[in-house]
Amino acid sequence: MKRAAVLSLFLLSASAQAGDPNTARATEMYLKVVKPIFQRKCFDCHGVATVFPWYHQIPGVRQLLDHDIREARENMDMSKDFPFQGKASPSDYLDSVEEVLHDGSMPPFRYRLIHRDSALTEEEKKAISGWINESRE
Ligand code: HEC
Repeated sequence: MKRAAVLSLFLLSASAQAGDPNTARATEMYLKVVKPIFQRKCFDCHGVATVFPWYHQIPGVRQLLDHDIREARENMDMSKDFPFQGKASPSDYLDSVEEVLHDGSMPPFRYRLIHRDSALTEEEKKAISGWINESRE
């Protein structure tokens, strides 16, 4: 009995060291498929934007964008990959990303007006949902 407990403890720590295969797959999916989408469509506000879009120069637009960036990063910073940095837990972030996929609220409408190709396509949404499901398993 005691021996079995020791053995299972050993197995548990060994598997923790090797890394959970589901987590590893989710991480790989994130880096290969999801991150490039987020980089194109979300990093202007949720990440470290190195190149500002041309309209950032327009007075008024700049204030709006700077405000968005501050607020977006405070809420959810994607720049260090998943788990995102911010106030919520990783599983809450998965829930809220799933929510914005469904309601189409991100990127915000005013941003999509000036950045016309920034809305998520159906294909991108599918890829992101796939990653969310994988991350939850
Ligand atoms: C123009 C800037 C901007 C862009 C681009 C943008 N966001 Fe946001 N995002 C915000 C702001 C500001 C907030 C916080 C306030 C709000 O909810 O409107 C936010 C909040 C969120 C939240 C809620 C975080 C929480 O607190 O739980 C999610 C999820 C999210 N964004 C996902 C995305 C995704 C995915 C993309 C890309 C497809 C994206 N955003 C692109 C500005 C942006």
